[in-house]
Amino acid sequence: MQVISDITQLREKRRQWQIDGKVIAFVPTMGNLHHGHLRLVQTAKGKADIVVASIFVNPLQFGPDEDLDAYPRTLEHDKAALEALGVDVLFTPTVNDIYPRGLEQQTFVEVPGISYMICGASRPGHFRGVATIVCKLFNMVQPNLAFFGEKDFQQLQVIRAMVQDLSMNLQIHGVPTVREPDGLAMSSRNNYLTSEEREKAPFLYRCLRELSDHLELGRRDFRRLISDYSTQLTEAGFKVDYIEIRDAATLLHPSHEDTRLVILAAAFMGKTRLIDNICVELK
Ligand code: PAJ
Repeated sequence: MQVISDITQLREKRRQWQIDGKVIAFVPTMGNLHHGHLRLVQTAKGKADIVVASIFVNPLQFGPDEDLDAYPRTLEHDKAALEALGVDVLFTPTVNDIYPRGLEQQTFVEVPGISYMICGASRPGHFRGVATIVCKLFNMVQPNLAFFGEKDFQQLQVIRAMVQDLSMNLQIHGVPTVREPDGLAMSSRNNYLTSEEREKAPFLYRCLRELSDHLELGRRDFRRLISDYSTQLTEAGFKVDYIEIRDAATLLHPSHEDTRLVILAAAFMGKTRLIDNICVELK
């Protein structure tokens, strides 16, 4: 595996792959890799000749009170994990490489509508930061395929919308959420949990599972269900940010005809904000 920080060097590699007719897959990350990230890489390996992964903790997507400085950085461990999976190139640019004119002057990509709801409402500017960095990374790597986790369901839909709206020439693949044996969705932020909080954390997914069972059994009183499960989460020690039942494609409030729904939730356990979701196919 080659580790490249320099954009010109990356472009040179890209040019050679193009000449050789290779299919290029890309897995963007912020590092501190766990099995969720690695599943994206494994899936990418199965569908392309070349896999490029990136590690870049993107300041543009963190709010002023968020954990940019505290975000875990574990480059040596990450390199070893990616190398073991046969990644061809790990791209590790610096903030200055990516934002040479500074964050304030940066041209940005805004995907309206879908970026402002749910997580976007709780984290203003977050999806603008995500869409901008992902667009920039796509311009640098120029992949044929790119892989994103369903764990960040809204992020995946924002990126799909950006690719469609800006006629970008690549395919986006969503990869199912990888979980701990007790159901907790893997996340770099799980490291922030104390052992007591870690024990309680899987209850979030348990609630999503139960909600999904209720929908499959025909219940449609969404408000009542959401309110019941908000109460349960609060009683279990969570501070609920939101629980939403939405149309899985648009993330809008579902109509009675919708058959593909997604239940999305964000809740604080202590200081740690956990997110999770589950898709529900109605018959
Ligand atoms: P990061 O949180 O590092 O996640 C990188 C990729 O791994 C994302 O596509 C995310 O959805 C996926 N992922 C994380 N946990 C997962 C899990 N448990 N199962 C499956 N996939 C999982 O998401 C970002 O970074 C950034 O916003 C980024 C897209 C890199 C832009 O900066």
